[in-house]
Amino acid sequence: MGLMDSKRGLVVGIANDHSYAYFIAESLLRHGAQCLFTHLPGEKMLRRCAKAIGQLSVDDPWLEPMDAGSDADLDAVFDKIGRDFGSIDFLVHSIAFADREWLEAGKFAATPREVFAQALDISAYTYMAMAERAAKIMPDGGAMVAMSYYGAVKAVPGYNIMGVAKAALESATRYLAADLGPKNIRVNTISGGPLRTMSALAVGGFSQILEWVEKKAPLRRNVTGKDVGETAVYLLSDLASGVTGQNIYVDCGYSTMGL
Ligand SMILES: NC(=O)c1ccc[n+]([C@@H]2O[C@H](COP(=O)([O-])OP(=O)(O)OC[C@H]3O[C@@H](n4cnc5c(N)ncnc54)[C@H](O)[C@@H]3O)[C@@H](O)[C@H]2O)c1
Repeated sequence: MGLMDSKRGLVVGIANDHSYAYFIAESLLRHGAQCLFTHLPGEKMLRRCAKAIGQLSVDDPWLEPMDAGSDADLDAVFDKIGRDFGSIDFLVHSIAFADREWLEAGKFAATPREVFAQALDISAYTYMAMAERAAKIMPDGGAMVAMSYYGAVKAVPGYNIMGVAKAALESATRYLAADLGPKNIRVNTISGGPLRTMSALAVGGFSQILEWVEKKAPLRRNVTGKDVGETAVYLLSDLASGVTGQNIYVDCGYSTMGL
């Protein structure tokens, strides 16, 4: 019997088979969940996302376009899930965006206002926007998880405005947990270690971060997508029935080191 048998939910953030969302979906499916998906609008995005989902062996996937920066897109997707399935049990938010021009060491202080606003909107506000809509189709309670990073709590050169956005995401998680807890909906984040994905490559000096973590982390390696996928299953399953408002580090222990 799977930990996620008879649970259905939405996974947002598969760009390709390197995405954290891809590995989270892989784990969820392996543990028996039914996953619904969205892709960033556009032919190329659809093709890449559908190809990755094909590799997960999902027959006839439920896959809809959604730009999380658009309230109309968010409404359309969650309304359609309500019409097609009635309810869901979980939500995975695995998206972020910041203009890569400003993700370079030494450029943080000069971040333009509109770059700040967009990074905070897409990377943090959208968790609230999705949580609000998802909660309406979770009549029996549910669970949500979003992806954060250590740059939320420490200055990681080059991570810049994304660090500020992740701090907002982690804080929003605690407020969402307080708001939605009375409806038996749990809200958490995973702070994942560096993983070579399309978004990660936009961060200046990313390869050095990988090398550094491998040398310094207690487990002497970088995380795998599966490390994070399995923790997402834990948080979204009944195993974590008393866990909400938390940020769980899946980083081979890197964040626990002082030096
Ligand atoms: N890769 C890492 O090192 C790392 C570490 C910790 C946390 N994270 C976080 O993991 C999450 C997933 O990123 P990833 O590393 O898998 O990269 P990725 O590029 O594979 O995924 C990012 C996703 O965000 C989506 N996205 C961007 N703007 C969007 C919008 N307006 N509407 C809808 N979707 C949008 C993209 O389509 C893509 O699917 C992000 O929150 C990222 O910050 C990544």
